[in-house]
Amino acid sequence: MNNKKAIGIFDSGIGGLTVLHSIIKALPAEDTIYVGDTARVPYGTKSVTAVTNYSLEIGRFLEKMDIKALVVACNTASAVALPKLKEAFNIPVIDMIDPAAGNAVETTQNGHIGVIGTEGTIKSGAYENKIKTFGQKIEVTSIACPLFVPLAEEGWIDNDVALAATRIYLEPFKRSKIDTLILGCTHYPLLKDTIREVIGDKIALIDSGETASLCLKEILKSEKKKEQETVPRRSYFVTDTPDRFLRLGKRFLGDEIDDVRHIDIP
Ligand code: DGL
Repeated sequence: MNNKKAIGIFDSGIGGLTVLHSIIKALPAEDTIYVGDTARVPYGTKSVTAVTNYSLEIGRFLEKMDIKALVVACNTASAVALPKLKEAFNIPVIDMIDPAAGNAVETTQNGHIGVIGTEGTIKSGAYENKIKTFGQKIEVTSIACPLFVPLAEEGWIDNDVALAATRIYLEPFKRSKIDTLILGCTHYPLLKDTIREVIGDKIALIDSGETASLCLKEILKSEKKKEQETVPRRSYFVTDTPDRFLRLGKRFLGDEIDDVRHIDIP
C-alpha cells in the first residue's frame, strides 16, 4: 500500500458524509475521495442486484483514482454487496456491518441487541447474521425505519414529527429489553438525540460509521502517514447535479463543502 494514496468512500448519496466526518476525526491527515450516487439514491428500497451493480460501478470509478482502501459508507450496500466488492477489488474494503456488529457484541451485557436500518439492510439480515457468528444465544431485534432518511435530509431531526416517528418505530424495543442499539444507517446519527430521548439513557448506542472509521484506522496503522506539509485533499463527486449535495452536505459532514464535481456512472 502506498502512503500517499487517498481513501475512497462511497455512499448512495449525502448520508455517507456522516461516515466521512468520523473518518476525518480518526485519520485527519489522510486524503479522501467521496462519491455520492445521488442520481440513484435511495439504495435502501432497491433490490440486491441493483445495489450490488451500482456499488461495483462506483467501486470501479474509485479504483481508477488509485485509492488505497475502499470504505462502503452505505449500510445497505455493505449489507448486500460486500462479498462481490471484496472479490472485485484488490485493496482493503471496509464495510459498516462487521465493525458495528463486533462492537455491539462487546458492549451488550444482557445479550439483547437492537438494530435499526433501511428496509434493504434489515431484510438482508446482515447484522443479525454477523452478530450470530459471535454467539447463537445473542438475541437480535431488527427494525426498518425508512422515514428516518427523508426526515434527516429535511432537517426534521428533533421536532414533533421526528419524535412521533421515532416513538412508533422503536416501540418494539420496549418489549425486547435490548441494552445495545446499532444505528445501522448513514442518516441515523443525525437523529441520535431524538432516539436517545425515546429509548432512555440505559441503552448503549453504536454508531456504525464511527466504529468502521476506527476499524479503518487500525487497518492503515501499519503505514502511518508522515506529517503533511499541505492540508489533506478532500474530493467530492456526485452522479446527479451537485446543487442539493452542496446545500445539504454541511448538515451531514459538519463542515463546508465547496467543490463537488458531477460524474457519469458507469
Ligand atoms: N445510505 C443508506 C444506508 O446507509 C441510506 C439512504 C439510502 O437508502 O440510500 O443504508
